[in-house]
Amino acid sequence: MATTPDITGGIDCEESRIPQLKPIEETLQKLVHRAFASGGERGQAVKNFLNGTWIGEPLHVILTDIPIGAWTVALVFDGLDLMSHKREFAVAADASIGIGLAGAVGAAVTGVTDWQDADAPARRLGMIHGLLNVSATALFITSLVLRKKKSRTSGRVFAGLGYAVMSIAAHLGGKMVYEHRVGVDRTDGAAFPQDFVPVMAESDLAEAKPTRAEHDGVPILLVRRGDRIFALAETCSHFNGPLSEGKLVGDSIVCPWHASRFMLEDGRVLDGPAVHPQPCLQVRIQNGQIEIRKLLCDDAKPARSPEVESAGAGQPA
Ligand code: FES
Repeated sequence: MATTPDITGGIDCEESRIPQLKPIEETLQKLVHRAFASGGERGQAVKNFLNGTWIGEPLHVILTDIPIGAWTVALVFDGLDLMSHKREFAVAADASIGIGLAGAVGAAVTGVTDWQDADAPARRLGMIHGLLNVSATALFITSLVLRKKKSRTSGRVFAGLGYAVMSIAAHLGGKMVYEHRVGVDRTDGAAFPQDFVPVMAESDLAEAKPTRAEHDGVPILLVRRGDRIFALAETCSHFNGPLSEGKLVGDSIVCPWHASRFMLEDGRVLDGPAVHPQPCLQVRIQNGQIEIRKLLCDDAKPARSPEVESAGAGQPA
């Protein structure tokens, strides 16, 4: 796996508290990475599915709602059972724990798939988040076993402990998203020009060489393929990887950091771990200059100005 710089700007408190864990998390990441890579194209397809490339959102964040919701409901049914001593509530609590356990398996598999491409310090936080969730799951399994063995009171205690551990894990999961921006579209908020602006002389753009241009400090990827020129946001939607240092594969570009692959034509994700498409820009050639602008809503309509080509492609006007 490619080594990436610390993109979040430093070591956080979790990292400084437990430095001895670093080799473990790196080794684990490599093992997971190797397992998917050994599957070749099929392994990549499975990874894409688990990342959520096909829905444009991380599948993990959807599946985590199942154990959190089901185990919350289980605790409510336990409370009702305690108050009313009605068997239906006890049965409902047990069923809810079972549903939560099934959801926890899906959440764990998708979480590990996402985590293998996380960089420090989110990588360490992610491992702790995962270990806590495994612990919470183990406590709920114990709770279910005890309930089946007619030790319902002990089962309730274990469920309560499991819920407490799960809550801490959920808190760390929130930190990963809101503080370290794991799973968040890193291109969101990039200010691309509304009107066409020149970014490079056409003669300076070599054939099939991903090239970085800039407008107002915002990096733009330019790629010439034959008589077409494509323009995308240059920093990857996954973790800001520099796409101008990536590799061209046909009419797609592969990110140098974690190998997400985007279609040059429209920026859609072909391979994860990225799940958000790469913003694509409109291109035209004016007076020997490559000009780009943001894709506007009106440009999606069939009738277009004759000098404007389709999104992500350009011809001389
Ligand atoms: S930064 Fe991770 S795939 Fe581009």
